Amino acid sequence: MWTRPRRWPARRSNSLEPPLSDHASAKLEILPVTGLPEFRPGDDLTGAIVTAAPWLRSGDVVVVTSKIVSKAEGRLVRVPTDPEARDAARRDLVKQEAVRIVARIARTVITQNRLGIVQAASGIDASNVAGDEVALLPADPDASALALRNGLRERLGVEVAVVVTDTMGRAWRVGQTDNAIGASGLRVLHAYRGTIDGQGNELAVTEVAIADELASAADLVKGKLGGTPVAVVRGLVLEDDGSNARTLIRPLEEDLFRLGANEAIAQGRREAVPVRRSVRQFSDAPVSPISMRRAVGSALTAPAPHHTHPVRFVWLRDGAKRKELLDAMRESWQADLNGDEFTPEQVAKRLSRGDILYRAPEIVIPFLVPDGAHTYPDARRNDCEKTMFTVAGGAAVQGLLVALAAEGLGSCWIGSTIFAADIVRDVLGLDERWQPLGSVAIGIPLTEPEPRVSATPGEGLLEL
Ligand SMILES: Cc1cc2nc3c(=O)[nH]c(=O)nc-3n(C[C@H](O)[C@H](O)[C@H](O)COP(=O)(O)O)c2cc1C
Repeated sequence: MWTRPRRWPARRSNSLEPPLSDHASAKLEILPVTGLPEFRPGDDLTGAIVTAAPWLRSGDVVVVTSKIVSKAEGRLVRVPTDPEARDAARRDLVKQEAVRIVARIARTVITQNRLGIVQAASGIDASNVAGDEVALLPADPDASALALRNGLRERLGVEVAVVVTDTMGRAWRVGQTDNAIGASGLRVLHAYRGTIDGQGNELAVTEVAIADELASAADLVKGKLGGTPVAVVRGLVLEDDGSNARTLIRPLEEDLFRLGANEAIAQGRREAVPVRRSVRQFSDAPVSPISMRRAVGSALTAPAPHHTHPVRFVWLRDGAKRKELLDAMRESWQADLNGDEFTPEQVAKRLSRGDILYRAPEIVIPFLVPDGAHTYPDARRNDCEKTMFTVAGGAAVQGLLVALAAEGLGSCWIGSTIFAADIVRDVLGLDERWQPLGSVAIGIPLTEPEPRVSATPGEGLLEL
């Protein structure tokens, strides 16, 4: 009869509370289980292991390659032998088994399957199976591990832990290792949070993935070619906290690399335009001059007629000059509003809308300088030319707003300088050709603006 190891906690914990001991064992043995048959759907996996390893003891960890679990559970799918048709069938299966495409790198597709496991090709594998078959992962490897553990208890009277493994690549390291995709009867994670090492340092983040380490260790004995799909790790101090291999799957909200690099770039591109919103409240934090210059540089790549460069951005960094300009504009605006028969309250309310340009950490005034515009003998074409350059100016300003948003900066395009062009030119000492296109208030948003979900175009798009 199996007796509880000395270091087994007095109370069997299901609370997933971390132990305060070290996870290391004084000595481990890894024993191959030899003489197992080639498995086919419906075969009795537990029976085969009982026959091949009657020497199993309580406290052992039985580490089983998922491929034989898949075979015994009938997770083999027949595919054509023709290489092209076989490839197409495999691609379909990868999609079928995936709930999410995480990344595509050349011909490799990394997916997350319905169990949450992130793996190349949804874990579908053609190694160690017949030429016209591929193996899917076991449908529920944790359940398979539990069933095998229960079966071994019933037939051999031993209390073992079971780990079901699969070979996986690693994002930042070359080479594959075996990991646990199913587990039962052991604490899969050994957390050191709150423990102190020999030098008095607190181990705040260390969590050892015991089940994965067992999977990799057993692979050193099982190998990939020798027909040894099961190995037994002996000597580990087993603790069962009710966890299983699902415990090892990083929750989406903790996943810093939710997308592959290509997917993240594609999503960033798609969201670049709708992420721009008018931001009217800014924090006092300074704006990075590097971000400002980078955004203006991007904006100046806007298209323009006749291969011209008709847009200039004036970054008004001189606070006194800014105040002088805004005061002068306000005075002129007030005169206009007084002529519009508004009440003094209505005038004050309208004028207060210009306050954002006083408050914003930075302002940039875009100008159209249509050097290179053509002159025609008739007014109609001259008007058209003017419109053409004006829309080019608008494109550059929108480019600036989008580029600022991509830098994490908020902005609001304020039209007022368009109505005070003479004052702007006068205060800033610019000549007649400089036509202000509004101004852009810029700063770090006080609250993160909600990105607008790209709407379906609706009546904004006529497909003729
Ligand atoms: C040429 C132009 C002038 C604008 N002038 C002002 C302005 O004077 N004051 C203001 O608060 N917003 C101004 N806006 C911003 C619009 O109000 C804003 O784009 C609109 O409400 C849509 O919101 P969104 O930018 O968050 O998508 C202006 C926008 C443009 C294109």
